[in-house]
Amino acid sequence: MANHTQNNKMNSFGLTLTALCCVVLVLGGLPFSSDAQLDASFYRNTCPDVHSIVREVIRNVSKTDPRMLASLVRLHFHDCFVQGCDASVLLNKTDTVVTEQEAFPNINSLRGLDVINRIKTAVENACPNTVSCADILALSAQISSILAQGPNWKVPLGRRDGLTANQSLANTNLPAPFNTLDELKAAFAKQGLTPTDLVALSGAHTFGRSHCSLFVDRLYNFSNTGKPDPSLNTTYLQELRKTCPKGGSGTNLANFDPTTPDRFDKNYYSNLQVKKGLLQSDQELFSTSGADTITIVNKFSADKNAFFDSFETAMIKMGNIGVLTGNKGEIRKHCNFVNKDRIRMASRDSSESAMVSSI
Ligand code: HEM
Repeated sequence: MANHTQNNKMNSFGLTLTALCCVVLVLGGLPFSSDAQLDASFYRNTCPDVHSIVREVIRNVSKTDPRMLASLVRLHFHDCFVQGCDASVLLNKTDTVVTEQEAFPNINSLRGLDVINRIKTAVENACPNTVSCADILALSAQISSILAQGPNWKVPLGRRDGLTANQSLANTNLPAPFNTLDELKAAFAKQGLTPTDLVALSGAHTFGRSHCSLFVDRLYNFSNTGKPDPSLNTTYLQELRKTCPKGGSGTNLANFDPTTPDRFDKNYYSNLQVKKGLLQSDQELFSTSGADTITIVNKFSADKNAFFDSFETAMIKMGNIGVLTGNKGEIRKHCNFVNKDRIRMASRDSSESAMVSSI
């Protein structure tokens, strides 16, 4: 009798366990499970041409604005470091959204928002309500890198767009050009990125420009010494002083890489070796005495494949930060507004125009 009860208990325990496993398996397999993974072929059936649509828009823009390739790589970075790669950086200011675009690292600095909108329009025409703005940012970064002769990687896709932005998080999470190596490492560690990822991703400063205001103190009054930054090459210092005159507005632009300003190559690292890093945060990687990042800079400077491989790995890691998948977030119809706001604004506009037409 006692044995029988024991067996019954065992049987029902086994059944419960099997049922539990089935539930776990089924839920795990569902597309809306909360921890669904990104997948490079996510749009294979729903928007097979998404890559070529994105590529065509960027290729056309870059014919007249080659810098745009750099700007689009940066945009994905500025998205991912602030509450994950959820396209929060694209949200405009509204009654309910405090836009990240006005955070210090972004204001008067972000470029490419209009290009992303052009891409989104083209993608919506081909496959409505399907491709997220966060995925468009990730794809744009990879396509821009290739068009600038840089690294190529298979972009994992399936991100969804967030419903909020966070301006104060943009101010705290995005690294600053005057950060020390320890501060840079901490900012990257917060996102689950290693010092090797930091050095590899900083290599994106092989193309694009910076405003003088972001490094001018290095030219004339570094750390309030009244002297230039000692870790700055003296010939380079003279060149930069011409681009950024003392007491100027700070709005002039300098190339990150003086020799191949629009090409994605490994020059960034050889520049650091000869003290030609543009920002303090760049030069810190090589000129901080005893730093573990020095050997990484030397490796990437000597070996393009090592740099490109590490950049690809780090971009995929960065592209995975805090992604929304499954039924989280939404697929925005317009990248600058959450769908709820867009509908609200559209109905307000139509009731206003109805009022106007009834006057
Ligand atoms: C390590 C910390 C970093 C700091 C402190 C930093 C800071 C900056 C600053 C101050 C600018 C110039 C902005 C302007 O003048 O408007 C800039 C430009 C740029 N950044 Fe970074 N950045 C960092 C990491 C990254 C990463 C991880 C990427 C991409 C993977 C990236 C890609 C770029 C690109 C491509 C540009 C040029 C953009 C253009 O010309 O429009 N940066 N960055």
